[in-house]
This record gives sequence, C-alpha cells and structure tokens, in this order.
Amino acid sequence: MKSLICLNPCVCAAADVSLTNNAEVKVMKALVYQGPGKKAVEERPKPEISAPTDAIVRIVKTTICGTDLHILKGDVPTCAPGRILGHEGVGVIDRVGAAVTAFQVGDRVIVSCISSCGKCDYCRRGMYSHCVNGGWILGNKIDGTQAEFVRTPHADTSLYHIPEGAEEDALVMLSDILPTGFECGVLNGKVQPGSTVAIVGAGPIGLAAQLTAQFYSPAEIIMIDLDANRLEVASRFGATRTINNTDGKAVEKIMNMTNGLGVDTAIEAVGVPASFITCEDIVAPGGVIANVGVHGVKADLHLERLWDRNISVTTRLVDTVTTPMLLKTVQSRKIDPKKLITHRFKLDKILDAYETFGAAAKTGALKVIIEM
Ligand SMILES: NC(=O)c1ccc[n+]([C@@H]2O[C@H](COP(=O)([O-])OP(=O)(O)OC[C@H]3O[C@@H](n4cnc5c(N)ncnc54)[C@H](O)[C@@H]3O)[C@@H](O)[C@H]2O)c1
Ligand SMILES: [Zn+2]
Ligand SMILES: [Zn+2]
Repeated sequence: MKSLICLNPCVCAAADVSLTNNAEVKVMKALVYQGPGKKAVEERPKPEISAPTDAIVRIVKTTICGTDLHILKGDVPTCAPGRILGHEGVGVIDRVGAAVTAFQVGDRVIVSCISSCGKCDYCRRGMYSHCVNGGWILGNKIDGTQAEFVRTPHADTSLYHIPEGAEEDALVMLSDILPTGFECGVLNGKVQPGSTVAIVGAGPIGLAAQLTAQFYSPAEIIMIDLDANRLEVASRFGATRTINNTDGKAVEKIMNMTNGLGVDTAIEAVGVPASFITCEDIVAPGGVIANVGVHGVKADLHLERLWDRNISVTTRLVDTVTTPMLLKTVQSRKIDPKKLITHRFKLDKILDAYETFGAAAKTGALKVIIEM
C-alpha cells in the first residue's frame, strides 16, 4: 500500500490523518440522562456503524432543547435512563456504512432531529416524524448528539450537506427549532398575509415561529410570555405587540386588542395546560390553535365553549420536511437564526450549559451552543 504513488498528496494526507485520529478514538464524553432530575457527563464507547445505512458524525456544535428539559422532568417516557441526550447539531462525517451514497468521510453536515428511512408509508407521505424505522429517536430512543460522536441511522435521508461558507452556528438552529416553529406553528396554524397571530411562549421555539411567520406578512404577531427579557427579544425580532402574562390578564388584553374577536392563529409553544387554555380563550371564530409544546400532563379541551366556533386544533411532531427550504432562507439571510444564540460552552461544561438554559429567566438564555 505504501508504495502507491499519490498524485494529490495534500488531500490524501488530510484524509489519512482524520481517519487515523478518529479510528484511534475509543471513548468519548457524553451527557447522559440518568432518570428524572438526574444527568451527568460520562465516558462512553465511541458509537459504531450498526447498519449499512448508518453514518457516524463527529459533532462540532450541539445545543439543548426545551424538550431535553421535558425529558429531565420525566415527561417523555420513551427516553430511558442511560440515554445520551441531544437531537440537534452540526458535525463532520467520520464513518459511513456501505449503503450510504450521499455522504463521504469529511463532509460537513446538519444532523436532523428526525431520522427518516425515506421508504416507509409515512416517509413517502412526507411525515418523517412517524417514520416506522426512525422518527424522533435521536436523544430519545437511541443515543443523541450531546456527545463527541453520534450514530445517525438512515444517513442519506436524515443528514443535510452544509453549503460552502455557511455559518455553522446558524445551522444548528435547522436541526429542530426552525422547522418546528415553522411546520408545527406557522404552517399548521395557517398564518396568512394580514392575519393576526398570537404565540404563547417566547422561548427558542416560539421565537423560531415568530421569525418564520414573517415569511407570510401577518398583520399582527403578538408574543405572550412570563419573562420580560424574552419578550424584549421578541420585540427586537419584530413582534408587533408583547404581553407579559404574570398578571394573568393576557386573554383580556388580546380581546381588547382584537375588538373582542381573538386571533386567527394561536400557537402554543410552551407545553403546559395553562398555555393551551390561553390559546383556547384567544382563538377567533374560524381560527386555528396550533399546538407545538410537548405536554406531560392532560390539558382540557373546552368544547362547551368551542364547539360552535369553527376552529381547528392541530398537533404535530416536527417532520423536518422544510429543512432544505429553510436552509435556503438562512443562506440568503431572509432570516438570521444566529440571533437566538446567547451563550457558549465547551462539552465538558455542559452541566453549566443546562443550568444556564434551565434558568433562562435569570440568565437571559435562549439557545446555548455547546462546542467540542
Ligand atoms: N412538537 C415538536 O415537534 C416540538 C419540537 C421541539 C420542541 N417542542 C416543544 O416546544 C416547547 C417550547 O420549546 P422551547 O425550547 O422554546 O422551550 P422553553 O422552555 O425555552 O420556552 C417556553 C417559554 O414559555 C414561557 N411560559 C411558561 N409558562 C407560560 C405561560 N403559562 N404563558 C406564557 N408563557 C409561558 C416560558 O417563560 C418560556 O419562555 C416545549 O414544550 C418543547 O418541548 C416541540
Ligand atoms: Zn428539540
Ligand atoms: Zn420511514
């Protein structure tokens, strides 16, 4: 082998170095869920290819989602103790299985929070979230991205190439929050030119819904939260009005603002009963309640008040079918999701990152970037 003459020594040498170095890596650091309320940084074996359609991605940047906090609260029973958390991130392909054709070692990629086989009935309908061979499994049913390496199943249809010159920080927001805000909130909520939109919850998901709702030029985007800092961010991002509901008067204020009608689209971006009830109370006749939040306990649907209002209620696990489109809007600077990043940590400080993200009212955190 050594006697082969290489005509392109630079490329060859670089590829050789990355393969040799990563091949030597046997253990890695990872953030592990240890049961409700418990998590720790542990050393874990580096993942290996287990199906020919897998790729191993060396994570470069990852982040924490509100859903990770739900898992830690015990709201997501599919996620068992011992699981490496995380379903967002960008990285570099470290290994590919024999059947992977769209990616090669060294390619820079976005990891989608949804794994899709591209072949099952649900995938053929564009409902990747319910792929019978995947769906939301990363950091839930299989080990996730808050680690130095991750095994990504169905790599060809679950990873996206990072365009030359693109900013990786902004692209971390494409793994989950931008498609979630857009698909579950804006598309399901049927936001239209001139319509009135209220978004309950100004966390990263609510703000992602706000950024992407602007594609459709609604007349009003009203942001509701309990956190003054997040509402100020929402104003800076272009919310036409903000309401702090710590006094419990959001419904009254919205009714006053809308001549007693309510809003055409009420997006629930929190995941607790109170915020869903707020949406029920503010939706106008003919409107849509678009639920985005992950709910761990029951929320009442008041049909005794809503049966005659011609409304729709939608739920959705993000499909990430809009990721390629959203990538183009980020590339062309129609939206700038980098604005959502407030803090940065190294992987070995990920517990501090969780603390900062979990205490957003005190720390002002929105998205925290964890770098390797
Ligand atoms: N459907 C999906 O596919 C999907 C995907 C990703 C995230 N999610 C869910 O979306 C939700 C939002 O995610 P996030 O990362 O922005 O979470 P987050 O916890 O950072 O933000 C939630 C916001 O809601 C505010 N809030 C709490 N109670 C409120 C109330 N009663 N009224 C108004 N505001 C209230 C909080 O102050 C906070 O700013 C979470 O439930 C998350 O699990 C769903
Ligand atoms: Zn998420
Ligand atoms: Zn599928």
